[in-house]
Amino acid sequence: MNQLGAGIAITGSGSATPDVTLDNDRLSQIVETSDEWIASRTGIRERHLADVQDSLSAIATQAAQNAIAMAGIAPTDLDLILLATSTPDDLFGTACKIQAALGAPQAVAFDMTAACSGFVFGLVTAAQFIRTGTYKNVLLIGADILSRWVDWSDRRTCVLFGDGAGAVVLQANESDRFLGFELRSDGTLNKSLQLAYDSQPTELVDGITINQGTYQPITMNGKEIYRFAVQKVPEVIEKALFRSNLTTNQIDWLLLHQANQRILDAVAERLKIPGEKVLSNLARYGNTSAASIPLALDEAVREGKIKSGDAIVASGFGAGLTWGAAVFQWGK
Ligand code: ACO
Repeated sequence: MNQLGAGIAITGSGSATPDVTLDNDRLSQIVETSDEWIASRTGIRERHLADVQDSLSAIATQAAQNAIAMAGIAPTDLDLILLATSTPDDLFGTACKIQAALGAPQAVAFDMTAACSGFVFGLVTAAQFIRTGTYKNVLLIGADILSRWVDWSDRRTCVLFGDGAGAVVLQANESDRFLGFELRSDGTLNKSLQLAYDSQPTELVDGITINQGTYQPITMNGKEIYRFAVQKVPEVIEKALFRSNLTTNQIDWLLLHQANQRILDAVAERLKIPGEKVLSNLARYGNTSAASIPLALDEAVREGKIKSGDAIVASGFGAGLTWGAAVFQWGK
C-alpha cells in the first residue's frame, strides 16, 4: 500500500445486449414519430430490447463473464460483486443471483441504485473497498432493462431508451490507475425524472391503513434534464480532473453516459474536447441507463480504440438527480 492506500486498476471489461433490435422506422408503428425526428434530436437509430425469455440477471451475467475473462481471473477470485441497476429482476436484489450464476461463492454481492449515474457511482464505491485494502478483486456491473418501465404510448420518452449490460473488473494493483472522482446529487429536482411508486390506501384492519401499489412508467421533463446535463456534467468533469491533477487536453477519451448525442456534443464543446476523443455508440443502443458507460467502454476496448494507459474521464448523470465523474487510466 502507498500513502493513499492500495493502488487500483481496471483490468477487464465485458458487455451483453439482447438479440432483439427495434429501429426508428418500426418504432414509428407504435407512436407517431419518425427516424428523422429521433435521429436529429437524439442521434439514436435503434435499440436492443429484452425479449420475453431475457432477464436482467442473464445479460448481466454474460457481461460479467466477458469482463472476468478479459481480466484473466476466475470467478472464485472475486471478493465483491456490485450490481448498479434500477431494474432488478427482484426488488430485494439481483446481484446474489448473478453471484450464483457466475460461481463466485467467496464474493459478497449487492445491488445499488443511482439510475444512469449507477456505473460511475459504482466505480467509486468499488474503488473505496480496494483503496482501504479490504478487497482485491471487485466485479462491477451496470445493467438495465428500462423497456419494462417505459410508457410505450409516450413518444417523448419511449424513443430514448434501450436495454443492455456492461461490466468491469477492478483489481488491487501496484501502480494506481484510478486517479480521481467527484460525485453530486440534488434531490430538489427529483420530480424531473422518475420511475415512481404509486399506491392506493388499503385498510388492513380498523385504524390501520397502508399503501399498496406498483411502480409507474418513466416520466421525464426532457428540457429540464437537457439543461441539467449540459450545465452540471462539464462542471463535475472539471472537478474530477482537478482532483486527478490532469487538464482536459491530457485526456484521451471522454466517456459520457450515452443519453443523447446533442448532450455529448454540447458537453465536449464546453470542455473543448475534440469530437474524435468522444466515445459514442448510442446510435445502435439508445440510452441503456447504468449499462451505457461500460457498454461503450467495452466496445472501444475490444475495437482497439482504447489502449493500455489511455486516460479516460467517465461521467454519468440522471435520475435522483445524480451526476458524477471518475478519471482513470485503462489497464494495469
Ligand atoms: N417524435 C416526434 N415528435 C416528438 C417526439 C417524437 N419522438 N417527442 C416529442 N415530440 C414533439 C413534441 O410533442 C413537441 O411537439 P409540440 O411542439 O407540437 O408539442 C415537439 O416534438 C418538441 O418537443 P420537446 O419535448 O420540446 O422536444 P425537445 O426539443 O426538448 O427534445 C428530447 C426532446 C430529445 C427528449 C430533449 O428534451 C432531450 O434530449 N432531453 C434530455 C433527455 C435525456 O437525455 N434524458 C435521459 C438522460 S438522464 C437518464 O439517462 C436517465
